[in-house]
Amino acid sequence: MKFRILALEALLMVGANGYAQQLTLKADNIDQIVKALTLEEKAHLLVGGRTPANNIIGAAGATQAIPRLGIPSIILTDGPAGVRISPTHKGDSRTYYATGFPVGTALACTWNPELVENVGKAIGEEVLEYGCDVLLAPGMNIQRTPLCGRNFEYYSEDPIVAGTMAAAYVKGVQSNGVGTSIKHFVANSQETNRTEVDEVISQRALREIYLKGFELAVKEANPWTVMSSYNRLNGVWTQSSQPLLTTILRDEWGYKGAVMTDWTGGRTSYDRIIAGNDLLEPGYNEQEQDLIDNVKNGKLSMDIVDTRVKTMLGLIVKSPRFKGYKYSGTPDLKAHAALTRQTSTEGMVLLENRDQTLPLKDVKRVSLFGVTSYNFIAGGTGSGDVNKAYVVDLKSGLTNAGLTIDNDLQALYESYKDFNERVRKVNGRWVRTDELRVSRQAIERQAASNDLAIFTIGRQAGEGRDRTIDNDFNLTNDERDMLNDICNAFHAQGKRVVVILNMGNVIETASWKAMPDAVLMAWQPGQEGGNSVADILTGKQNPSGKLTMTFPIMVSDVPAVNNFPIGNSFRSSNEKGRRNIDYTLHEEGIYVGYRYFSTFNKPVSYSFGYGLSYTTFAYSKPIVKASKNGFDANIAVKNTGGVAGKETVQLYVSAPKGTLDRPTKELKAFAKTHVLQPGESQTLQFHVDTYSLASFNEQASAWQAEKGKYEVEFDASIADIRATASYTNPKAFAQQVNDVLKPDRSISDIKP
Ligand code: BGC
Repeated sequence: MKFRILALEALLMVGANGYAQQLTLKADNIDQIVKALTLEEKAHLLVGGRTPANNIIGAAGATQAIPRLGIPSIILTDGPAGVRISPTHKGDSRTYYATGFPVGTALACTWNPELVENVGKAIGEEVLEYGCDVLLAPGMNIQRTPLCGRNFEYYSEDPIVAGTMAAAYVKGVQSNGVGTSIKHFVANSQETNRTEVDEVISQRALREIYLKGFELAVKEANPWTVMSSYNRLNGVWTQSSQPLLTTILRDEWGYKGAVMTDWTGGRTSYDRIIAGNDLLEPGYNEQEQDLIDNVKNGKLSMDIVDTRVKTMLGLIVKSPRFKGYKYSGTPDLKAHAALTRQTSTEGMVLLENRDQTLPLKDVKRVSLFGVTSYNFIAGGTGSGDVNKAYVVDLKSGLTNAGLTIDNDLQALYESYKDFNERVRKVNGRWVRTDELRVSRQAIERQAASNDLAIFTIGRQAGEGRDRTIDNDFNLTNDERDMLNDICNAFHAQGKRVVVILNMGNVIETASWKAMPDAVLMAWQPGQEGGNSVADILTGKQNPSGKLTMTFPIMVSDVPAVNNFPIGNSFRSSNEKGRRNIDYTLHEEGIYVGYRYFSTFNKPVSYSFGYGLSYTTFAYSKPIVKASKNGFDANIAVKNTGGVAGKETVQLYVSAPKGTLDRPTKELKAFAKTHVLQPGESQTLQFHVDTYSLASFNEQASAWQAEKGKYEVEFDASIADIRATASYTNPKAFAQQVNDVLKPDRSISDIKP
């Protein structure tokens, strides 16, 4: 009762004219508003809204309004590849189709943060003009194995790439005055049993691999929000982990924004608020009651509630909805379509190109094989999907580029029974793509009457489920047989075969990559995908994408696969303690991706950083100079080939021998040229600070970099060393951090 009277008093302020004025939220009166809020209202602000607010249908979530204090509900929308809302809204004649941009993996493979920032700008404009406030993106978990169902949303197996790309994306989106939510914090690298699984990870691997990218994005781009993940970490749900959400994120990294939970139901609320979440999504009445009860019984202090409420109000006052922005419903979709077309070509990776098969020469008539050629997969499923107005499939892209697609073959594919169901998602879930087995005779007829064969192999994946090894990572028998028959028939006629990979993730390539003449990894390239592929095939664009992950020979070569749920083995069950379902041991420690393959000398199919171009580049002698807090480097890159193109230079560092085992070398920086004309050079600059040279010593709970000589490489890929230099660190570096997030059991990490 007393509380309510106080709140009422605070509600009325006396204005200059002597009349009482109503208190409403302003950017500079948050403390006053907090005093005016009742406990029930505070709980309301910390728990997500349950009905679609402000007519934005299909948005993933919202905060709850408190109209009496002028606090609006703000809208949270997925997701990484573009705004995900319903394209039509009842009673509204406008449509809300959003641009489907390339998936995260494709963006990262551009190695071009400037371009990714431009994509962010465009997506942010759609967030703003479609009436939303915060974009639930980017996804930036580490691609620990090729089998995670959500890898397509993520950037890389390497935290420097993931963090740099996420920072660029966040800056771009937020330049529109709307927010982002970097997700899923942290270690959400498997989908099987994702809301329960306990990821058991050493402190070192956490600091160096899983937290590093988030640290970079937080420090560089200051995202408005961070999304705490579904999974457990070392015995505790990340959402309930104060060491993670407060000690590391806020105290160590200085994060000032809001933390919201991933869309979890059925968990207690107050411990998650204590841990450091400011907003519980998607929000339930019981959660509000739980907060109120626990304040009343003293388990949750009002101080913590007020801190979280202030953070929420700080988020709300920045939002377009609070500022009364009148969204137009008409973002520049035309410009964004052009941007997605260009971006996706830059993320595509040319894996094979024997005898300069590409760009195509003297090719007019094309036999287009593969169900996904006709129903191109533009993006992944689940919250990473976008409701796009259209998708340019490969058939249309090639036709637009002036090539003629064989009609009979097209008719055969389009009459394929259940054609659409074979390649489309079903209720947002992953579905298998069944390849059409074209007869050998029909393929031979094709080879006789056309100039070239293109065979697209497609894969789809998404939330809630991991990939299988058979029929997903590995080719299906039908795909293998088709590839064999196509190559035999076309090669017998002296004609070539190009394979297009249309997927968001790594597949097996070693057993078949020598058969076709060219292989292009097109990823899931967004709504203009068919045009983008055609731009590369015809040479309108020179490919400059490089892999941000390793393609192993066999999936079992990836050490983390020993500790990963294989074969969708997850079944809901009362049984607990199931390895790789209820808990997953990260026995590979820091040896994730290339850190394993290069250190343990294990051959791969395609290396981290690999990708071909239609031109060639020469690297000059590099210069490495000590700077105030590390070193600066530069190297000139010259286009020595016949066509214009871009090159990415990757800077790797090998540390001197010290107390800790270390990867042979680690990526510390990268830079990409602008389009270099034949004969043109550009000098690329790099900076590496001492902190980023450091490894994490668990015994000392400290980042440490040895004094002494560091070898510095300038590579075209991790396996293609072009120039070397060295840097001498004049004195040992150490930075102590909190001794938190210890595994709750011992893990036998692999050692080189
Ligand atoms: C996903 C998040 C997404 C949220 C809202 C969750 O299931 O894990 O990435 O942002 O749903 O749609």
